[in-house]
Amino acid sequence: MNLSMDQTFKLELEQLRKGNLYRTMKKITGPIGTTVFIDGKELILLSSNNYLGLSTHPKLVAAAELALKMYGTGSGASRLISGNMEIHERLEKKTADFKGTPAAALFSTGYMANLGVITSLVGKGDLILSDELNHASIIDGCRLSGAAVKIYPHRNTDALEQLLSRGGDNCPRRLIVTDGIFSMDGDIAPLAGLVKIAEKYNAWLLVDDAHATGVLGENGRGTVEHFGLQCDRLIQVGTYSKALGSIGGFVAGPDQVIEWIKNKARSFIYSTGLPPGVCGASIAALEVVETEPERREQLWGNIKRLQAGLVHSGFNIRESQTQIIPLVTGRSEVTMQFAHGLFEKGLYAPGIRPPTVPDNQCRIRLCPTAAHTAQQIDAVLEILEGQGRRLGIIK
Ligand SMILES: Cc1ncc(COP(=O)(O)O)c(C=O)c1O
Repeated sequence: MNLSMDQTFKLELEQLRKGNLYRTMKKITGPIGTTVFIDGKELILLSSNNYLGLSTHPKLVAAAELALKMYGTGSGASRLISGNMEIHERLEKKTADFKGTPAAALFSTGYMANLGVITSLVGKGDLILSDELNHASIIDGCRLSGAAVKIYPHRNTDALEQLLSRGGDNCPRRLIVTDGIFSMDGDIAPLAGLVKIAEKYNAWLLVDDAHATGVLGENGRGTVEHFGLQCDRLIQVGTYSKALGSIGGFVAGPDQVIEWIKNKARSFIYSTGLPPGVCGASIAALEVVETEPERREQLWGNIKRLQAGLVHSGFNIRESQTQIIPLVTGRSEVTMQFAHGLFEKGLYAPGIRPPTVPDNQCRIRLCPTAAHTAQQIDAVLEILEGQGRRLGIIK
């Protein structure tokens, strides 16, 4: 049978639907706040990575507006050709200072940062050791690098050490890669142990602090600050798109390493520099993180309130230690029913299914933010408990 291109994908999409894996988008009208409007209905939003509520902060909006007026809408070229604007360098300097590193480089997204950084640090003949629950952008960066990849069991430093002690001696470069806060489980990488192993086995360590930047550590600088670490074998990837309320990726680390990445990372070289308005917002976001620590306190207050309520209701929140709280429901059918029930009751927290999470570990991924009120958290708990009981997810 000779199918047209469209017919081919119609059939493929039907297969996805049959497996409950078909994905659709809900259209949100208005800004992303603690509530959102969908189809004219106001719902509490508990699945956004806008952890500090900064995407609507007046200082970010004003800084974006100012940069837009001063510099226009786009940078017009890759930074290595003619798109390197003063505001890019200001954001890099601000990011490096914030992270306490000598230098930083910008990417268009966190996804692109992981792709570019991993592929420029290691290649064919080298070895990567990657946590089994690392983000898709790390997995894709590892694959693209051409290096041999060994996956170690989640957060298991003993298993990692065994892998390193058993092999890899003849690999000139060894790179350990981990999420800082794991994006679907909300637990924290054992970074102090990973640093020790990197030092013992002469390896480098890359931590992806996409979810920890602005959240973890006394000043919100991320997992490195949280554990009080200093290590010259470590580089940090991050994104402005989550707690920082903007968009764009970055890598922060030693001077010459960053210079090398700017020379070699294809997602840096062959992609247009970030728009100036976005850079203005990101600089303002870092300033707000520094000057409004109460936002982090509010976030942690909401995390504790939500986690305690969920455990009290009998939900299993696994090892969550942070603002990412998984309610693992198992199969995709029940997860989608649960998400639908929540939606009907006024809570927007969609189901997460494979390949984002392993088979039969579908979940609702809850993320409170600094901006939610205690009343909203309590309302959310009531809805979750009601729907959880209705579907037998809790007794
Ligand atoms: C751990 C991790 N790294 C990287 C990214 C990608 O960041 P961005 O959304 O800026 O591309 C994400 C986003 O979901 C993430 O969870």
